[in-house]
Formats: sequence, structure tokens, C-alpha cells
Amino acid sequence: MSVMLQEVNDDNMASENNRLTGQLLGWYDVHARTLPWRTKGRETSDPYRVWLSEIMLQQTTVAAVGRYFAAFTTRWPTVADLAQAGLDDILREWAGLGYYARARNLHACAKAVVADHGGRFPDTEEVLLTLPGIGPYTAAAIAAIAFDRSVAAVDGNVERVMSRLRAIETPLPGAKPEIRAGTLELVPKRRPGDFAQALMDLGATICTPKNPDCLICPWIRACRARELGIAEALPVKAPKKQRPIRTASIFWAERSDGAVLMRRREEKGLLGGMLEFPSSGWATGKNNIDLPPPYVSGWVSTQEQVEHTFTHFHLVLQVQRTDEVFDELPAHDGDWRWITRQEMAVEALPTVMKKIAVAMLGTDVFRKPAL
Ligand code: ADE
Repeated sequence: MSVMLQEVNDDNMASENNRLTGQLLGWYDVHARTLPWRTKGRETSDPYRVWLSEIMLQQTTVAAVGRYFAAFTTRWPTVADLAQAGLDDILREWAGLGYYARARNLHACAKAVVADHGGRFPDTEEVLLTLPGIGPYTAAAIAAIAFDRSVAAVDGNVERVMSRLRAIETPLPGAKPEIRAGTLELVPKRRPGDFAQALMDLGATICTPKNPDCLICPWIRACRARELGIAEALPVKAPKKQRPIRTASIFWAERSDGAVLMRRREEKGLLGGMLEFPSSGWATGKNNIDLPPPYVSGWVSTQEQVEHTFTHFHLVLQVQRTDEVFDELPAHDGDWRWITRQEMAVEALPTVMKKIAVAMLGTDVFRKPAL
């Protein structure tokens, strides 16, 4: 192609991209979801609230985040308040969101913002990336939404929207660089934060994984996947590796008042610092060999089997119990404690341990009053 034709072509692409961006922002102006951390119009967003919402949204849906966001911002209205909070209080408020490592990082990040950045969140993607718990997506989302930086915040929703818009059939994760580049081409100089949130909203409400609502999509005419009739099939994902299965026994031991024996896990590693029921050991992959029962007793298998999938393995836990009750903590090593049923409701238990408690005690033990 001649240099002149190439330039004309580039101009056409740029104006097509501008048109797409304009269509999406126009749609967002009318249809943006009202969310607690969003601000309207020209008001600037509070980086603390943007950051907190983004970390919480890594865990769960917009609908579920609402009450956690309200609880955190009421109790700790600024990043300095959160930095000063006790980790146990944070873990307790986080309970139910899962992945406690994220709550620990949340605290570490708040402390780093106060200690290293004078209590203000850094305003570039690069520096945000240096903070605990902030990965590439979150850094870009905060930079765009809180600081109006023209960067591409690409999460799963955005991958879906963009792979459809451009009919990218390369399986993920291989398609990531192409999706990123395609997104960046559309990010405007003005309103990049609204653009980022508009893409997220489009992915969450219209360009959904199943049954996308193409007829009301602002990009219906431009969408290549729709034209080809393959929207629902995109993005293509590389087949998942099978996870190895680990099995172990849980020992359910009660005190005479009904309190249940638990121990605190080591700070490092999977579910670091969280409470667990005593078990024969499962986190290392050495099934059933590393830890003895907490007491010598007549342990029998119950019907209760609990399963939980972690990132790198699938865990099957068989609950064992005994008719004996105990009044002393176990003699052998471990950070043991008795947890009463009232305490169980407010302790920050990992999801897998909650499943065991629910299997043994019923759901009532975790029912929280609505906020
Ligand atoms: N998902 C992740 N971040 C979001 C945001 N800021 N708005 C809507 N959905 C989101």
C-alpha cells in the first residue's frame, strides 16, 4: 500500500474508533448503573472508594459487594482509618467475601499508602502496581476511574466484549495481547474512567456470557461476532487443566459446652493465619500423613463429606467425630482454641471451613442480620 493510502486507512480507522467510543459513552450517559462508589458528571471519584470497590469486585458480583462496601466505608471512611484498623476486625468484616489473602493485602495496601505515599493513592498505573494486592487490571481501573488516565482496564467482562466486537477467535489467554491492544485503541483522552466503566457495564448487563442482548447494544452495527453469528461462542477459552484431588480427614472435637476445637494456621501459605478445624493435613499435597488427630479417641467417620476447589487442587474432606468431649486443649503443638457457636458466626472462617461448620451445625450458625 502506498504511504498516502496507508495514511487514509489509518485516518479511517481512527475515526471509526472515535465513533465506537462515542457510541459507548453516549449509551453510558443514559444507562450507567448507579453504584455506591461511582460519582456523577464531573465530580471526581475518591481513589480510596474506587480501590476498595475494585478489590471487593474481584471476589463477587456488584450486587453482593454493596453491603460490604457500605460496612467498610462506614467503619473506615478513609484509607488512613483502614490502615489503623486491626487486621482481625478487617478479616471479620471481610468474612463471606472469601480469599482472605485479599483482605490481608487490603490492609497492607492501606498501610503502604499511608507510610510510603503520604496517605494519597498514587495516580499512575505504574506506581499503583507496586502496591500490595494491586495487579494490572486493578491498577489500570484505579488510574482510569479515579485519576482520568487513558489506560485500558481489561478484566473478564472486557475480554468478552472486545473479543466479540473484533471477532477474535484465538483462545484465551493467548488472545490477551490482541484484546488489550484493541481496547487501548478505543480508550479516549477525555473521560477514560467513564469509558472503562461503560465497558464493564456493557459486559455485565448486555454483552453477557449467555444470551447477549444484542438488539439493545450500542455496538450492534459494529460487532463482528454478531455479524458472523458467533457472539455467544466468544471468547474461546483454552481447555482447563484438570486439578489434582487431595483427600484428608477433619476431626470434629467438642468441649462439654459445645464449643468446637479449631486452630490457627500458619501465617504463610494457603489460608494463612485463618482458623481451621483440625485435620490430617491437606495443604501440602502429602495426603493424610502429616498430622495426627488432636486427641487419642474413638474417631468414627460421619456421613459428612465436604468438597472445595482451590486454584491448584480439589479438596475432599471427610469429617470424623467422637462421642468423647474434651476440656483440655490438645497436648501437641498447634495454636489451638475453642470456638463457641456464637464466635463461629463472627470469626473470619475460610469458605471451606464454613462448609464443614454448616454440614455439622446447620446454616443458622452463619446467618447475619441484614445491614
Ligand atoms: N466491575 C469491576 N469494577 C467495576 C466498576 N467500577 N463498575 C462496574 N463493574 C465493575
